[in-house]
Amino acid sequence: MTLTIIGATSDVGREVARSFGKRGFDLHLVARKSERLEPLQKDISIKSNVKVLIHELDLLEFENYESVLKPLAEKSEVVLFVAGYDLEQEKVEANVDKVVQVMVVNYKAGVLSLNIFKNAFQQKGEGTIIGVSSVAGERGRAKNYIYGSAKAGFTAYLSGLRNQLTKENIHVLSVIPGFMDTKMTAHLDLPKPLTASAKVAAEQIYKAFKKQRNVVYILPIWRLIMLIIRNIPEFIFKKLSI
Ligand SMILES: NC(=O)c1ccc[n+]([C@@H]2O[C@H](COP(=O)([O-])OP(=O)(O)OC[C@H]3O[C@@H](n4cnc5c(N)ncnc54)[C@H](OP(=O)(O)O)[C@@H]3O)[C@@H](O)[C@H]2O)c1
Repeated sequence: MTLTIIGATSDVGREVARSFGKRGFDLHLVARKSERLEPLQKDISIKSNVKVLIHELDLLEFENYESVLKPLAEKSEVVLFVAGYDLEQEKVEANVDKVVQVMVVNYKAGVLSLNIFKNAFQQKGEGTIIGVSSVAGERGRAKNYIYGSAKAGFTAYLSGLRNQLTKENIHVLSVIPGFMDTKMTAHLDLPKPLTASAKVAAEQIYKAFKKQRNVVYILPIWRLIMLIIRNIPEFIFKKLSI
């Protein structure tokens, strides 16, 4: 089997590559600075004896999606979209380009990339689509509502895609992580019991893929936390700073 990872330089993407590689998957790793993947490529090919190829794509350059991703979609049975872009909300709000980048990488890029795989998988009559969204998409919060709103769109897209493709032998897995210890959150002081390592996240993604789960929260406690957060009445929620 072959897995394509879009956003492969992410800490989670790298660990997913290792995790699927050691289970015998050939890999196509896609990133905007693909030379940064060369050490990983060597390491996985030697340790796991699988084929690992790297490809360059900046997700802000839509004109290149088709030429890079279509051939990969035809060769893959599984795709993971794990790219994401987040900054502190004040930095995003102050800069129109950053607002656009957050909306594009966390929503539009996921939809446009995965649509290419959806079309190829429909032709083949099989496949698995895995998208990494975020708990930030489950309720808008003052601290990250631009990122959160893009992730909310991506979560809804994945849910709709699953609903559409379930009759066609194509499975869609939504990954909704809480905190993860990666370069995206390196500047934050995260509570340890609520924070997963990239390695744990990758193993949870593999398990959820094998069991054909619909939604995985990485650390199960986040399912409960989000159930509570989603149900706080708005007149109370708007006064909270969480
Ligand atoms: N860390 C958390 O606490 C957390 C929580 C919930 C959800 N998530 C989501 O989990 C996923 C994995 O994130 P992570 O924590 O592993 O963060 P990360 O290491 O910062 O990874 C982000 C990835 O997105 C890529 N990317 C950003 N803009 C791009 C562009 N224009 N073109 C191509 N690639 C681009 C980055 O590429 P470069 O390496 O070139 O920058 C990097 O590979 C993301 O979707 C994130 O939103 C993370």
